[in-house]
Amino acid sequence: MKILAIETSCDETGVAILECEGSFEGASFTILGNALYSQATLHAPYGGVYPNLAKREHQNNLAPLATEALKASGLWKSRTKDTPVNDSSFENIRDQTFKSNIEDFLASTEKPDIAFIAVTKGPGLEPALWTGINFAESLGRAWNIPVIGIDHMEGHIFSALLKQEVDSQQSAEQSEALLNPKRYTLNAIHFPILAFLISGGHTEFVVMKEPFVYEHIGATRDDAIGEAFDKVARLLDLPYPGGPQIAEVASRSRARGEKNEISFPRPMAQDDTCDFSFSGLKTAVLYKLRDMDKIDDKVKEQIAEAFEDAARDVVIIKTKRALEATEPKILAVGGGVSANTEIKRALTALIDEEFSDIQLLFPDATLTGDNAIMIGVAGYLRHLSGTHTASNLSALGNLKLGE
Ligand code: KG4
Ligand code: ZN
Repeated sequence: MKILAIETSCDETGVAILECEGSFEGASFTILGNALYSQATLHAPYGGVYPNLAKREHQNNLAPLATEALKASGLWKSRTKDTPVNDSSFENIRDQTFKSNIEDFLASTEKPDIAFIAVTKGPGLEPALWTGINFAESLGRAWNIPVIGIDHMEGHIFSALLKQEVDSQQSAEQSEALLNPKRYTLNAIHFPILAFLISGGHTEFVVMKEPFVYEHIGATRDDAIGEAFDKVARLLDLPYPGGPQIAEVASRSRARGEKNEISFPRPMAQDDTCDFSFSGLKTAVLYKLRDMDKIDDKVKEQIAEAFEDAARDVVIIKTKRALEATEPKILAVGGGVSANTEIKRALTALIDEEFSDIQLLFPDATLTGDNAIMIGVAGYLRHLSGTHTASNLSALGNLKLGE
C-alpha cells in the first residue's frame, strides 16, 4: 500500500511517499519519495520560529514538495486532459495564493496510486498545522481518498523504532549513499516501551504499554530542552536552531580536555519526580554572562560546554529514575535533541552500565528532526490498528499523546 505523508507542525515542510507492507510486527517501509524543506535560515533572524512566516512558507512550499515527492516515487502522471479540477476540493481555503497553489497542483497531475494521506494534526504551531491539514484535505477530496490525522510525537517515537535495512552486500556506510530508495523495518517490539521525547517543543517520558496506549510519566514544567539549547545559543550570539551550534561550540572546549571553571545548576535533579525544568538553567547562563566583563571565544565554548553538561546530567538522572519506575523492555529516544552527541553518549553509557537488559533505540540520523517519513510510518500503523481519526481534522496545538 502506498501512502502520502505530510508534516508542517513547525518550521520543516515535509512530504513523503511510502510503500508500506506487513502487519504491525515486521512492518516495512520503502521510502519512494521524500521532499523536505527546512525554513530554519528564514527564522534565524528572529531567533526562533515566527508562526506567520512558517505558515506562509508551508503554503508556498507544500505543492512543489508534493510534486517533487510524487515525481521521485514514479507516481506522478501529468494531466493531459483539460478537465477542470473540482472546486469543492479547496473551497474552504481562504488564502488566495495558497488556494491557487493547490488548484495548479491538482490540475497538473492525475490521481496517483495512493491509498490514503497521513498528516500531522498536532502538537505544534496551529497556523502551521492548519496549512498541512488544509492541503491534505484538498487532495483527499479531489482524489477521493481518506485523510488521517497523526500525533507528531507518535511520529518521533516510531522514528526511533525503525531500523534501516542494509543490503548484505554493502557496508553500512556504503549503503547510506547507495541504497535508493531507503527501506526501513520496525524493530521487534517488546512492551512496555519507555519513550523519551526531546525536541524544541517537548521534553517528556511516555510509556507505551501496548500499541497506541500511553501513560505520561514526566515532562518539563517550563521550557523544552531544545528550546533551552536555542535560547542559550541566542544568549551566546549563535544562530537558530541553537542545538547543533551549542554542541559544536561545546565540543571545542571538550576537546581541550581542561577542567571547566564554569558550572551551572542541575535543575530538579534532587526531587523524586520524572519532571524537568530548564528555564532556570537558561537564566543561570544569562546571569553568568552578565557577570563577566570579557566574553571571548574560549569563554563562550566553556559556557556552552557547562550548559550542555548540566542538561545532559539532568537527562541522565531523570532517565534513570524513569527506567527504575517503569521497567521497560525498550528505551526509545526521539525528537531533534536525540541528535545530540553528548546526550546520546551519556544515555548509551547509562544503559550499558546499569540497564543492560533494556534495548536503547535512537532514530537514524536523517530521522531525528521533523520529517514526513515518521508521520507516514505512524499513519500506516494507525491504519492497521484501526485507531486513527479520519476526516474533519482540526489543528490541535497542544495535543497530548493518547488523547
Ligand atoms: O524535533 P524537532 O526537529 O522539532 C520539534 O518538534 O521541536 O526538534 C528541534 C529541536 C531544536 O530546538 C534544535 O535546536 C534541537 O532540536 N536540536 C539539537 C540538536 N539538533 C537539533 N539540540 C541539541 N543538540 C543537537 N545536536
Ligand atoms: Zn518534532
